[in-house]
Amino acid sequence: MRIVLVGPPGAGKGTQASFIASHLGVPKISTGDIFRANISQGTPLGVKAKEYLDAGQLVPDELTIDIVRDRLGQADAAGGFLLDGFPRNVAQAEELDKILADNGVSPSAGKAYLDVVLDLEVDNGEVVKRISGRRLCRNDSGHIFHVDYSPSKAGDKCDICGGELYQRSDDAEEVVRTRLEVYAAETAPIIDYYREQGVLTTIDATGEVDVITARAFAAVDAARG
Ligand code: AP5
Repeated sequence: MRIVLVGPPGAGKGTQASFIASHLGVPKISTGDIFRANISQGTPLGVKAKEYLDAGQLVPDELTIDIVRDRLGQADAAGGFLLDGFPRNVAQAEELDKILADNGVSPSAGKAYLDVVLDLEVDNGEVVKRISGRRLCRNDSGHIFHVDYSPSKAGDKCDICGGELYQRSDDAEEVVRTRLEVYAAETAPIIDYYREQGVLTTIDATGEVDVITARAFAAVDAARG
Protein backbone atom coordinates (compact mmCIF):
# COMPACT_ATOMS: atom_id res chain seq x y z
CA MET A 1 0.00 0.00 0.00
CA ARG A 2 1.27 3.51 -0.86
CA ILE A 3 0.33 6.07 1.75
CA VAL A 4 1.21 9.69 2.55
CA LEU A 5 0.67 11.42 5.91
CA VAL A 6 -0.03 15.14 5.80
CA GLY A 7 -0.77 17.60 8.59
CA PRO A 8 0.72 20.63 10.29
CA PRO A 9 3.87 20.49 12.43
CA GLY A 10 3.07 18.66 15.66
CA ALA A 11 -0.09 17.01 14.27
CA GLY A 12 1.28 13.62 15.35
CA LYS A 13 2.50 12.36 11.97
CA GLY A 14 5.72 10.90 13.38
CA THR A 15 3.87 9.37 16.34
CA GLN A 16 1.28 7.67 14.13
CA ALA A 17 3.63 6.84 11.24
CA SER A 18 5.34 3.94 13.02
CA PHE A 19 2.04 2.34 14.08
CA ILE A 20 0.48 2.66 10.62
CA ALA A 21 3.61 1.44 8.81
CA SER A 22 3.77 -1.65 11.10
CA HIS A 23 0.04 -2.27 10.62
CA LEU A 24 0.51 -2.22 6.84
CA GLY A 25 3.91 -3.95 6.78
CA VAL A 26 5.54 -1.16 4.76
CA PRO A 27 8.65 0.97 5.43
CA LYS A 28 8.21 4.39 7.03
CA ILE A 29 10.06 7.12 5.15
CA SER A 30 10.34 10.51 6.88
CA THR A 31 12.17 13.27 5.02
CA GLY A 32 12.50 15.22 8.31
CA ASP A 33 14.22 12.21 9.94
CA ILE A 34 16.52 11.82 6.90
CA PHE A 35 17.54 15.50 7.11
CA ARG A 36 18.09 15.32 10.90
CA ALA A 37 20.23 12.16 10.56
CA ASN A 38 22.35 13.89 7.90
CA ILE A 39 22.70 16.99 10.09
CA SER A 40 23.85 14.98 13.09
CA GLN A 41 26.36 13.08 10.91
CA GLY A 42 27.62 16.34 9.35
CA THR A 43 27.17 15.11 5.75
CA PRO A 44 27.23 17.63 2.84
CA LEU A 45 23.43 17.22 2.59
CA GLY A 46 23.10 17.87 6.32
CA VAL A 47 25.21 21.04 6.09
CA LYS A 48 22.98 22.37 3.29
CA ALA A 49 19.70 21.32 4.95
CA LYS A 50 20.49 22.69 8.42
CA GLU A 51 19.99 26.35 7.58
CA TYR A 52 16.50 25.62 6.23
CA LEU A 53 15.41 23.43 9.15
CA ASP A 54 16.71 25.95 11.69
CA ALA A 55 14.75 28.71 9.94
CA GLY A 56 11.55 26.65 9.65
CA GLN A 57 11.68 26.85 5.84
CA LEU A 58 11.38 24.02 3.33
CA VAL A 59 14.61 22.48 2.07
CA PRO A 60 14.76 23.24 -1.70
CA ASP A 61 12.98 20.75 -3.95
CA GLU A 62 16.16 19.97 -5.92
CA LEU A 63 17.71 18.48 -2.77
CA THR A 64 14.59 16.82 -1.39
CA ILE A 65 13.14 15.11 -4.46
CA ASP A 66 16.31 13.17 -5.33
CA ILE A 67 16.45 11.75 -1.80
CA VAL A 68 12.90 10.47 -2.10
CA ARG A 69 13.49 9.10 -5.61
CA ASP A 70 16.50 7.13 -4.35
CA ARG A 71 14.68 5.87 -1.27
CA LEU A 72 11.60 4.74 -3.20
CA GLY A 73 13.87 2.89 -5.62
CA GLN A 74 15.10 0.60 -2.83
CA ALA A 75 13.79 -2.95 -2.74
CA ASP A 76 11.86 -2.65 0.54
CA ALA A 77 9.67 0.13 -0.93
CA ALA A 78 8.65 -1.87 -4.00
CA GLY A 79 5.59 -3.33 -2.27
CA GLY A 80 4.46 -0.04 -0.73
CA PHE A 81 5.58 2.66 1.71
CA LEU A 82 4.42 5.28 4.14
CA LEU A 83 5.75 8.80 3.48
CA ASP A 84 5.80 11.22 6.43
CA GLY A 85 6.67 14.83 5.53
CA PHE A 86 6.79 14.39 1.75
CA PRO A 87 5.33 15.85 -0.42
CA ARG A 88 5.41 19.32 1.14
CA ASN A 89 4.18 21.37 -1.85
CA VAL A 90 2.35 20.78 -5.12
CA ALA A 91 5.60 20.56 -7.13
CA GLN A 92 6.77 17.70 -4.87
CA ALA A 93 3.35 16.00 -5.20
CA GLU A 94 3.64 16.14 -9.00
CA GLU A 95 7.19 14.79 -8.84
CA LEU A 96 6.07 11.94 -6.58
CA ASP A 97 3.50 10.92 -9.20
CA LYS A 98 6.27 10.93 -11.85
CA ILE A 99 8.61 8.86 -9.65
CA LEU A 100 5.87 6.27 -9.08
CA ALA A 101 5.03 6.18 -12.81
CA ASP A 102 8.76 5.66 -13.56
CA ASN A 103 8.76 2.84 -10.99
CA GLY A 104 6.00 1.07 -12.91
CA VAL A 105 3.00 1.99 -10.74
CA SER A 106 -0.28 2.28 -12.69
CA PRO A 107 -2.62 5.14 -11.76
CA SER A 108 -6.19 4.49 -10.60
CA ALA A 109 -9.21 5.80 -12.50
CA GLY A 110 -8.86 9.09 -10.60
CA LYS A 111 -5.25 9.27 -11.89
CA ALA A 112 -3.93 8.63 -8.38
CA TYR A 113 -0.63 6.83 -7.88
CA LEU A 114 -1.19 6.67 -4.10
CA ASP A 115 -3.77 4.52 -2.31
CA VAL A 116 -4.55 6.96 0.47
CA VAL A 117 -3.43 10.35 1.77
CA LEU A 118 -4.23 10.69 5.44
CA ASP A 119 -4.73 14.29 6.54
CA LEU A 120 -4.28 14.69 10.33
CA GLU A 121 -6.37 17.67 11.40
CA VAL A 122 -5.51 19.64 14.58
CA ASP A 123 -5.80 23.31 15.45
CA ASN A 124 -2.84 25.63 15.99
CA GLY A 125 -3.39 25.89 19.77
CA GLU A 126 -3.00 22.11 20.16
CA VAL A 127 0.03 22.14 17.83
CA VAL A 128 1.83 24.68 20.03
CA LYS A 129 1.10 22.62 23.19
CA ARG A 130 2.37 19.44 21.54
CA ILE A 131 5.52 20.92 20.05
CA SER A 132 6.56 22.87 23.14
CA GLY A 133 6.59 19.65 25.21
CA ARG A 134 8.06 17.31 22.60
CA ARG A 135 11.24 15.38 23.42
CA LEU A 136 13.03 13.03 21.00
CA CYS A 137 15.42 10.15 21.56
CA ARG A 138 18.92 10.77 20.14
CA ASN A 139 19.27 7.12 19.14
CA ASP A 140 18.22 6.08 15.66
CA SER A 141 15.06 4.52 17.11
CA GLY A 142 13.26 7.87 16.72
CA HIS A 143 11.12 7.40 19.83
CA ILE A 144 8.93 10.46 20.50
CA PHE A 145 7.82 11.68 23.94
CA HIS A 146 5.93 14.61 25.43
CA VAL A 147 6.71 15.98 28.88
CA ASP A 148 2.99 15.99 29.83
CA TYR A 149 1.08 13.78 27.36
CA SER A 150 3.51 10.85 27.01
CA PRO A 151 6.47 11.33 29.37
CA SER A 152 9.37 8.91 29.46
CA LYS A 153 9.33 6.82 32.65
CA ALA A 154 13.13 7.28 32.74
CA GLY A 155 13.05 11.08 33.04
CA ASP A 156 15.48 12.65 30.56
CA LYS A 157 16.41 9.26 29.04
CA CYS A 158 14.37 7.19 26.58
CA ASP A 159 12.54 4.49 28.56
CA ILE A 160 12.59 2.19 25.50
CA CYS A 161 16.27 2.21 24.49
CA GLY A 162 18.03 4.42 27.06
CA GLY A 163 19.03 7.19 24.60
CA GLU A 164 19.33 10.79 25.70
CA LEU A 165 16.19 12.88 25.15
CA TYR A 166 16.51 16.28 23.45
CA GLN A 167 14.38 19.13 22.15
CA ARG A 168 14.52 19.91 18.41
CA SER A 169 16.13 23.27 17.59
CA ASP A 170 13.25 24.06 15.20
CA ASP A 171 10.75 23.61 18.07
CA ALA A 172 11.63 27.10 19.38
CA GLU A 173 8.48 29.24 19.49
CA GLU A 174 9.40 31.71 16.71
CA VAL A 175 10.49 28.89 14.38
CA VAL A 176 7.23 27.02 15.04
CA ARG A 177 5.33 30.16 14.00
CA THR A 178 7.25 30.20 10.70
CA ARG A 179 6.67 26.47 10.18
CA LEU A 180 2.91 26.96 10.62
CA GLU A 181 2.94 29.81 8.07
CA VAL A 182 4.96 27.70 5.63
CA TYR A 183 2.51 24.81 6.13
CA ALA A 184 -0.52 27.04 5.36
CA ALA A 185 1.09 28.69 2.32
CA GLU A 186 3.01 25.82 0.72
CA THR A 187 1.83 22.46 2.06
CA ALA A 188 -1.93 22.88 2.59
CA PRO A 189 -2.54 23.17 -1.20
CA ILE A 190 -1.57 19.49 -1.62
CA ILE A 191 -4.77 18.62 0.27
CA ASP A 192 -6.85 19.84 -2.69
CA TYR A 193 -4.44 18.14 -5.11
CA TYR A 194 -5.14 14.76 -3.49
CA ARG A 195 -8.84 15.47 -2.89
CA GLU A 196 -9.20 15.91 -6.67
CA GLN A 197 -7.49 12.53 -7.15
CA GLY A 198 -10.04 10.95 -4.79
CA VAL A 199 -7.50 9.59 -2.27
CA LEU A 200 -7.77 12.11 0.57
CA THR A 201 -9.11 11.05 3.98
CA THR A 202 -9.18 13.63 6.77
CA ILE A 203 -9.21 12.41 10.36
CA ASP A 204 -9.63 14.30 13.61
CA ALA A 205 -6.16 14.06 15.18
CA THR A 206 -7.14 15.39 18.61
CA GLY A 207 -7.61 13.01 21.53
CA GLU A 208 -5.60 10.13 22.97
CA VAL A 209 -2.84 8.70 20.76
CA ASP A 210 -4.41 5.22 20.63
CA VAL A 211 -7.81 6.64 19.66
CA ILE A 212 -6.19 8.44 16.72
CA THR A 213 -4.30 5.27 15.79
CA ALA A 214 -7.65 3.42 15.65
CA ARG A 215 -9.10 6.15 13.38
CA ALA A 216 -6.03 5.93 11.14
CA PHE A 217 -6.23 2.12 10.92
CA ALA A 218 -9.93 2.35 10.01
CA ALA A 219 -9.14 4.87 7.27
CA VAL A 220 -6.30 2.84 5.74
CA ASP A 221 -8.23 -0.43 6.02
CA ALA A 222 -11.17 1.19 4.21
CA ALA A 223 -8.83 2.36 1.46
CA ARG A 224 -7.27 -1.12 1.26
CA GLY A 225 -10.72 -2.59 0.65
P1 AP5 B 1 9.38 17.26 9.81
O1 AP5 B 1 10.32 16.49 10.63
O2 AP5 B 1 8.60 16.57 8.76
O3 AP5 B 1 8.47 18.09 10.82
P2 AP5 B 1 6.93 18.60 10.76
O4 AP5 B 1 6.15 18.26 9.56
O5 AP5 B 1 7.03 20.05 11.11
O6 AP5 B 1 6.27 17.75 11.81
P3 AP5 B 1 6.76 17.47 13.23
O7 AP5 B 1 7.84 16.41 13.19
O8 AP5 B 1 7.08 18.74 13.95
O9 AP5 B 1 5.44 16.92 13.92
P4 AP5 B 1 4.66 15.55 13.79
O10 AP5 B 1 3.40 15.79 13.04
O11 AP5 B 1 5.55 14.45 13.31
O12 AP5 B 1 4.30 15.37 15.33
P5 AP5 B 1 4.87 14.32 16.41
O13 AP5 B 1 4.34 12.96 16.13
O14 AP5 B 1 6.34 14.48 16.62
O15 AP5 B 1 10.16 18.45 9.05
C1 AP5 B 1 11.08 19.25 9.73
C2 AP5 B 1 11.75 20.17 8.71
O16 AP5 B 1 12.46 19.39 7.74
C3 AP5 B 1 10.84 21.08 7.90
O17 AP5 B 1 10.51 22.28 8.59
C4 AP5 B 1 11.71 21.35 6.67
O18 AP5 B 1 12.71 22.29 6.94
C5 AP5 B 1 12.39 20.00 6.45
N1 AP5 B 1 11.63 19.10 5.57
C6 AP5 B 1 11.10 17.89 5.88
N2 AP5 B 1 10.48 17.35 4.82
C7 AP5 B 1 10.63 18.24 3.80
C8 AP5 B 1 10.19 18.25 2.45
N3 AP5 B 1 9.45 17.25 1.92
N4 AP5 B 1 10.52 19.33 1.69
C9 AP5 B 1 11.26 20.33 2.18
N5 AP5 B 1 11.68 20.39 3.47
C10 AP5 B 1 11.38 19.35 4.26
O19 AP5 B 1 4.08 14.86 17.72
C11 AP5 B 1 4.41 16.13 18.27
C12 AP5 B 1 4.34 16.03 19.82
O20 AP5 B 1 2.98 15.79 20.20
C13 AP5 B 1 5.16 14.87 20.42
O21 AP5 B 1 5.71 15.30 21.64
C14 AP5 B 1 4.13 13.76 20.67
O22 AP5 B 1 4.49 12.96 21.79
C15 AP5 B 1 2.87 14.58 20.97
N6 AP5 B 1 1.64 13.94 20.52
C16 AP5 B 1 1.45 13.22 19.38
N7 AP5 B 1 0.18 12.80 19.31
C17 AP5 B 1 -0.46 13.29 20.43
C18 AP5 B 1 -1.78 13.22 20.92
N8 AP5 B 1 -2.73 12.55 20.27
N9 AP5 B 1 -2.07 13.84 22.10
C19 AP5 B 1 -1.11 14.53 22.78
N10 AP5 B 1 0.17 14.64 22.35
C20 AP5 B 1 0.48 14.02 21.19
